[in-house]
Amino acid sequence: MICTRVWTPDGPDKGSNGVFVKEFSTQRRTRTEYIVGIGAFTSEGVLRRLRATESVLLIDEQVELLNAREIAEFEAGLTSLGRLTLPGAEATKSLACLDEILSFADGVGLPKHGQIIAVGGGTVCDVAGVAAMSFRRGVSLVLVPTTLLAQIDAAVGGKNGLNYEASKNLVGHFYHPELVCCDPRFFATLNERELICGFAEAVKVLAVSDARAFSRYFARLPAELSMVSAEAWTALVRDALSWKLALLEEDPYEESSRRLLNYGHAFAHFFEESSDHALAHGEAVLIGMIIENEISRALHIGTDNAIRDLQVVTARYLTQACRSHWMTFPSVQPHLDRLRRARRGRMNFVCIENPGTATIVDDVDNGTLEEAWRQAERVVRHSGHRVPAWL
Ligand SMILES: NC(=O)c1ccc[n+]([C@@H]2O[C@H](COP(=O)([O-])OP(=O)(O)OC[C@H]3O[C@@H](n4cnc5c(N)ncnc54)[C@H](O)[C@@H]3O)[C@@H](O)[C@H]2O)c1
Repeated sequence: MICTRVWTPDGPDKGSNGVFVKEFSTQRRTRTEYIVGIGAFTSEGVLRRLRATESVLLIDEQVELLNAREIAEFEAGLTSLGRLTLPGAEATKSLACLDEILSFADGVGLPKHGQIIAVGGGTVCDVAGVAAMSFRRGVSLVLVPTTLLAQIDAAVGGKNGLNYEASKNLVGHFYHPELVCCDPRFFATLNERELICGFAEAVKVLAVSDARAFSRYFARLPAELSMVSAEAWTALVRDALSWKLALLEEDPYEESSRRLLNYGHAFAHFFEESSDHALAHGEAVLIGMIIENEISRALHIGTDNAIRDLQVVTARYLTQACRSHWMTFPSVQPHLDRLRRARRGRMNFVCIENPGTATIVDDVDNGTLEEAWRQAERVVRHSGHRVPAWL
């Protein structure tokens, strides 16, 4: 429960400094339903539920193009006031685009009890969240995430954000959707790189939470993720999403325990930035997990066998971009100091003991880090689609 302090001369509670204090709960009752299933997006159950409320549809233009028939079927089943098409890109997470959405919603007369429905990747879901939160001080939000990353990560947990000037996700809030509908049929049109980025987040969640699911999903992987069946994706999305929610439950506003979800992220932003964003976030997370796995090995937190299992999975889908944008330890060292300063002098690492069990380590000395970095470099340089000889 969130409580806000209200300073009022008429309140019943007198504070020690002579100011009257009243506390009241500001939390709205929120309950988000997550539905995962093949065909969920156009199922009668979902449509019946959405039809009762007037809607504005925000659709990723690629998704609209590639799924024109399903989108038309979906929209025909709603009480739609209008459809706004948006590019699935970082530029969409902007004040200018928010302005466009608010003006559209106002123009078609979206009422206070109406809803904004977003169909698209994480960028469209993020801007839709900010728009729903802002329009008429909050209308209902429904998310239909269409990328693997958005189904496992961006649409889960109520966080949203806009980019502002050069900073990513600088503006935003927590605003929980009423419904998140994940239909793995959308993955049929995703390219391998987008699948890899979502896969990285799935590895992250299951590596810190569920040993059985980790080996069930990752023990035998196809050469390319586009070969994974819609049924297999359904099960993976369901489990990864449930585990993410379980981790968030303890810390819904990102104050503490959610930190396990930072696995792979200690260095990810650094690799993204130093590649001038040629590396996608998920690719950088894969690299970050490989380094943290080697830190875990160096500190004897994870056994050689456990680290081998993790590295086989994380290295399997490293792309050529990951190999070309690798940075050696000497070139990285000056930036590490900058990272430490930005993080109040210390870095935290998520180290896996065994897939499914993780611990947070409070910084390590540069010697240990250098050794871990060197081992990680071997993994990255020799990675490919087949299990490499060094493992
Ligand atoms: N709010 C959160 O908690 C959270 C968490 C993680 C990431 N994010 C945000 O999510 C964004 C990344 O999400 P993303 O990877 O989905 O990126 P995205 O929305 O940019 O989509 C990636 C690309 O895939 C296309 N696309 C979407 N669905 C498709 C489909 N079914 N078939 C073919 N193409 C399709 C899009 O048009 C785009 O070109 C980032 O902005 C990130 O900050 C937010």
